[in-house]
Amino acid sequence: MVAETSLTVDDLIAPLFVSETLTQPREITSLPGVMQHSQDSLRVEVDRLASLGVPAVILFGLPETKDAVGSEASNPSGVVQVALQNLRSDLGDDMVLMADLCVDEYTSHGHCGIVTPDGRVDNDATLEVYAEIALAQAEAGADICAPSGMMDGQVLAIRDALDSEDHTDVAIMAYAAKYASSFYGPFRDAVDVTIADGGNRKAYQQDYRNAREAIEEITFDLSEGADMVMVKPALAYLDIVAAARAITNVPVAAYHVSGEYAMVKAAAANGWIDGDAAMFEILTSIKRAGADMILTYFADEVAGALARQ
Ligand code: PBG
Repeated sequence: MVAETSLTVDDLIAPLFVSETLTQPREITSLPGVMQHSQDSLRVEVDRLASLGVPAVILFGLPETKDAVGSEASNPSGVVQVALQNLRSDLGDDMVLMADLCVDEYTSHGHCGIVTPDGRVDNDATLEVYAEIALAQAEAGADICAPSGMMDGQVLAIRDALDSEDHTDVAIMAYAAKYASSFYGPFRDAVDVTIADGGNRKAYQQDYRNAREAIEEITFDLSEGADMVMVKPALAYLDIVAAARAITNVPVAAYHVSGEYAMVKAAAANGWIDGDAAMFEILTSIKRAGADMILTYFADEVAGALARQ
C-alpha cells in the first residue's frame, strides 16, 4: 500500500543483437541467456517479447564486413535495416523499434567515429556519417534513433537530417550522459568489437569522476532536440539518473549495461546471491532514482516473472 516505486513491464527496453552471418542464434558466453540472433531468430524473439508486453526493443548489428568508416551502418540493406523492415512487417505498431546509432560495430578500428591518420576521432566528420545512418534507419522503419557515440552535436546533426527528409516523426533517444566504463566488457564480446591498438573511448565518453559534466551533456542534447535522454551505465550512476530527472521533464532512460548484468549472473551461478531477487532490487532502484525506462538484458526474464505474479 505504501510502496513508492513499482517496476512494470512498461518500463523495459530489450537490447538485442542481430548478425548478418548467423543462421542460428548463438549464446554470448559473457552474457548468459543473451543471444546473437539470426534475422529469423530475432523475429521469433521480438514476437515473444511483444506477447509478454515488453513495449520496446533496441537493435545492435553485427555486419559481415567492417571498414574504416563503418559503411555498413548506413547501407539500406545492412543488417539492422533489414531487421527493422522485418520487425515492422511482423508487428506493425505493436512494438517500439529503436536502433542504436553508432559506428563502432561497423568500423575495423572499433571506434565510435571516423579516425584521423594520427589516430584521433574526428568529431565533425563523424556527424556526417551519423546523419546518413539516421536516414537509413528511418527509411527502414525505426521509431527512435539512439545515438550512442557521444560526439558533440550528434543530436542536432541527426535531427536536421531526419527533418530534411520528412522523418519529422522519428524521435531521438540521446545517450546523453555516457561514461567510459569498465562495465561494457561483455558488450564488446557480444558485438565482436576490439578497439585498435589497445585504445579506449576516454576522449569522447565521460570521466566517471564527473557529475556536473553530465548535466552539461544532457543540457546540450536537450537543446539540440533530444526527445528523451539516457544515463549509462545505471547502478554506479544513480546520482546522475536522479540529477537528470531533476533537470528535465522529458523521459529519462537508464541503461543497465552488459557488465552489470554479467555480475549478477556470475554471482548467482556461484550461489553467492539470489539472482532473481538481485535483479528486481537493482531494476527497482534504478526506477526509484528517477528513470522512466530501463534498457536491460533482464527484460525478457523480468517480463516473464511479472507475468507469472
Ligand atoms: C557503443 C555502445 C556500447 C554499448 C552500447 N552502445 C559500447 C561502448 O560504448 O563501448 C554498451 C552496452 C552494454 O555494455 O551493455 N555503440
